[in-house]
Formats: sequence, structure tokens, C-alpha cells
Amino acid sequence: MLLGLRGVGKTVLLSKIEEMAESAGHLTSFVEAPEGQRLSELLIPKISQVLRKLSIAEKAKAKAHHAMRALRSFASAFKFSYGELSVSVDPEPGVADSGNLENDLPELFVRVGEAAKAAGTAWTLLIDEVQYLEANDLAALIVALHKISQKELPVLFFGAGLPQVAALSGDAKSYAERLFHYPAVGPLLPDDAKTAIRQPVEDEGQRITDAALNEIFAKTQGYPYFLQEWGYQSWEIAHEPQIDETDARQAALAATRRLDDGFFKVRFDRLTPKEREYVIAMAMLGPGPYRSSDVAAALGETHQSLGPRRSKIISKGMIYSPSHGDIAFTVPMFNDYLMRNFVNKPSKKK
Ligand SMILES: Nc1ncnc2c1ncn2[C@@H]1O[C@H](COP(=O)(O)OP(=O)(O)O)[C@@H](O)[C@H]1O
Ligand SMILES: [Mg+2]
Repeated sequence: MLLGLRGVGKTVLLSKIEEMAESAGHLTSFVEAPEGQRLSELLIPKISQVLRKLSIAEKAKAKAHHAMRALRSFASAFKFSYGELSVSVDPEPGVADSGNLENDLPELFVRVGEAAKAAGTAWTLLIDEVQYLEANDLAALIVALHKISQKELPVLFFGAGLPQVAALSGDAKSYAERLFHYPAVGPLLPDDAKTAIRQPVEDEGQRITDAALNEIFAKTQGYPYFLQEWGYQSWEIAHEPQIDETDARQAALAATRRLDDGFFKVRFDRLTPKEREYVIAMAMLGPGPYRSSDVAAALGETHQSLGPRRSKIISKGMIYSPSHGDIAFTVPMFNDYLMRNFVNKPSKKK
């Protein structure tokens, strides 16, 4: 379960893992958990696709059919009408159809795992933005994966999400801690960050000075998404023979503007006026993490009265709690964005 702030490369890594699984001959399903959609709705079409592929292998036909029937039962229990599922197989009463996901999802996963095993392959499931799964769905997923590991079936799971996923998983099922590894994905180290900028420049037969690289690293702090913006703008601005420090400094203006109108803004736009007030109060306290009680004091409210508002902002994926009583932004340098645009608003900006 890859954990990290926004824009550190979790989705890029998950896609890379999917590629590796495919080249190892696995069947893969990649889903992004959107807010407000049920896990069952996400998985049914994906599992259906996997089973259709598995049923092609002669030695897996019977098990795939078996799993397909469980999927039919599962789909009707969760009132899902998916065109492809109405074909040829009958549901199997009593299997994966109780309507309780924590019961049904493990049964379904076991059937899929048995079919993959019969085919001599594996199923790799990848779920991005895990923090958006509902608590019940996350619990059912954990139970299903636990079952799979007990039965040693060839089903692999990779997830990615914001740092709060570790606590969400632990709250859902305490043994999640032992079931998953939680590698932290963070900013790139100075040398890696510089290579990420320098190499593509040199691949194009151009050059960039060390001073420019230092300037870019200082401003981006090695966060991949920011490096991407700075690299792009530096390249656009520079003239022959090389990208120098002046170019990198100029690029900062354009890069910041693009981030403010995109990466940062799309997240801020999702907040209600009250929630905005809350995050602006956070930003005014500095770069964070923040004590929730300090934010409450800044707003002239009590810690308790702000609880619901804070939870809502957490569930929107804008802030998280790195440790008890603390909160922090899930987007790197979000406090600077808020200060720039809502507190010390420059007069030239419209
Ligand atoms: N290892 C890397 N080196 C350079 N740039 C990267 C790397 N990983 C990610 N990026 C850049 O950062 C952007 C954000 O990555 P993404 O995987 O979408 O982040 P996350 O899923 O953590 O929010 C990518 O589109 C890419 O431009
Ligand atoms: Mg992502």
C-alpha cells in the first residue's frame, strides 16, 4: 500500500507495478476508487473481464465457470446490472449472495483465485486513491485479501493512497497492519530530482547549469509534480546554449501560476466556504503539521465544535492526521498557495 502526499508519484508507481505484473504473465485489474461509488460496482466489470480471459484456458474452464456463477450471484446481491454478466451462466444460490460484502467479497475472491491457479497464472488487483473507499468496503477488501493469503491463492493486491490510509485500514481491521506493507512515497532526493530534470534535457542534446538545477531543487523541494512543472517551464523559457539560473528563476513564475490555476485550485475548489476558512486558518499558522487545537483557537472556536468540519475536509482528501491531535495538508506546499492567493493576495492578480 503506497502512501504519500499528492503528486509524489504513487499513481505512476502503481502503473509501473501493473506493467511488471503483466510482463510476469498476470492478469491485472487497475481501478481508481472514486468518491461515492461502491467497491462492488468497481470490481464486478473488472472481475468479469478477468474471468472471461481465464475461461479461455482449457485447464481453467471449469473453475472459471464456477467463479463466473459466483460473480452472477454477487452481482444480483449487489443489484448490479452489467450487460456482459447476463450471458450463459446461472447464479449459484448461497454463494457470495448474502448482500453482506464482508462475507461475499472473500467468497468471490477465492473463486477468482482458484480459477487463476487452475490456469497457472495470477490475478493482480491494483486500487488507486484507497482513501476514498467507504469504511465497509475497505473492511471487506481486507477480509477478502486475508482469506486469499490464508488459502495461498495467486491473487496479489497493490494499493495507493494518502497517508491516512494506514489508519483507515487499521480501523477497519486491526490485522491490516500485518497484511500490508506501507512503503512511504515522498519527494525525490536532491541527486534524483536533479537527474529527473537534467537527463531529459541532455537526451535532447541540450544542457542545463548546476546553478539552474540547484534553483529548481530549492523551489520544488524535489516533489515530482513540481519538478515536472519547473522542468517544462524552464525548457520553454530558455534560449541556447543552455538552461541557466535566470531561466530557472523565470520559470518559477510561470510554474507557480500554472500550479495555482490547476494542481492547487482543483483541490481548493472542492471545499465549502466554511472549510476554506478552516484551511486558510491552518496556512496562517505556517507550514505545518498543525495542532487541531491551535487551528480552533485561531478561528475562535472549540476543538470539539470543529470536529465535523475537520472530518469532512479529511474525507475530501485535503488534510490528514499524521499523529493524534495533529493535522497537515495532503498537498505539498499548500500553505504557500493559500497564503499567496488568499492572505497576501498580490494586487495584480485578478
Ligand atoms: N519518479 C519520478 N520522476 C520524475 N517525475 C515523476 C516521478 N514520479 C512522478 N513524477 C511526476 O509527478 C507527477 C505526479 O505523479 P502521480 O503518480 O500522479 O502522483 P500521485 O499519484 O502520488 O498524486 C507525474 O505526472 C510526473 O510528472
Ligand atoms: Mg495519484
